[in-house]
Amino acid sequence: MKYSRIGGTGSYLPEKVLLNSDLEKIVDTTDQWIRERTGIAQRHIAAEGETTADLAEAAARNALEAANLQANDVDLIIVATTTPDCVFPSVACLLQQRLGVTNSSPAFDVQAVCAGFAYALGIADNFVRAGTARCALVIGAETFSRILNWEDRNTCVLFGDGAGAVVITASDSPGIHSTHLHADGRYEELLHVPEGVSRGYDAVRQQQAFVQMKGSEVFRMAVSKLREVVDETLAANDLDKSELDWLVPHQANIRIIKATARKLDMSMDKVVLTVQDHGNTSAASIPLALDTAVRDGRIKRGDKLLLEGFGGGFTWGSALITY
Ligand code: COA
Repeated sequence: MKYSRIGGTGSYLPEKVLLNSDLEKIVDTTDQWIRERTGIAQRHIAAEGETTADLAEAAARNALEAANLQANDVDLIIVATTTPDCVFPSVACLLQQRLGVTNSSPAFDVQAVCAGFAYALGIADNFVRAGTARCALVIGAETFSRILNWEDRNTCVLFGDGAGAVVITASDSPGIHSTHLHADGRYEELLHVPEGVSRGYDAVRQQQAFVQMKGSEVFRMAVSKLREVVDETLAANDLDKSELDWLVPHQANIRIIKATARKLDMSMDKVVLTVQDHGNTSAASIPLALDTAVRDGRIKRGDKLLLEGFGGGFTWGSALITY
């Protein structure tokens, strides 16, 4: 079996919902501005004490159930996250423990911010193609609310918490046709959390340990890089854009998503849109959108999907999949 395919999907959103009208009471913003500029109507926020591993576990269990597989069938766990529970162990190792996977298979985290799920999927696909894994759990999970400055209206209205998961299994036919991963480290200043473990978190500088973003520059780069990666993906598979059934994009901003859809000549009813319900959940947003459209019956077996995402780093990536 030289390919990988998606065996099942799952997702989880924390119970607490924060509406745009709630944010109006915290920062100088309006429901109208947030909806018009981003498409977001609400986001979910993890409860006190609820961690990324909690969200990841719920999504992973959903995906395993959908794939009709048991925890010990899993021989690889990759969690894409920028907001892990602790410095170590990884969320993937915490998850392996919680799920009761005792077969000593590898488990690790990937940090590529909003492109994290595309990265994790690409890595898992390569493990399966190489014959070193047969059943991988690939998860995007974030508690981004913990790295937001709730006094900064430029960022705090955009993000939310959540998790999405897929089970990848070995297959005779694709499945995942190709993945395309990129990074350009020159743009650190446009989107970053400039503090961390090695730089230290002293009392004064701690005020900077939050997402900082130059929104309009990030917007322009996202649109341009996503256009490029979409072209690259179609060309690599000798596929015409008319052959795509669904665009499953990273859910950062409806205007970025619309720009990619226009590039693909896809009408918005062929685009899975969930940004209104959970905002930008970083690495979780692509699998959250995928799981939503699989469970509500829009995405069916045999459909051709284009997944894409762009995030801090900058990092960006895509995958072409027959579901
Ligand atoms: N409520 C009201 N006004 C706000 C606001 C908010 N929450 N946030 C910013 N504004 C203001 C700005 O201060 C600015 O005011 P000014 O003109 O008086 O300076 C004005 O709105 C316009 O800001 P601008 O940055 O030009 O708006 P925009 O059309 O670029 O939209 C973003 C802002 C952040 C929504 C948009 O740039 C974006 O989505 N960028 C990419 C974000 C992203 O995807 N990040 C993660 C990558 S995965």
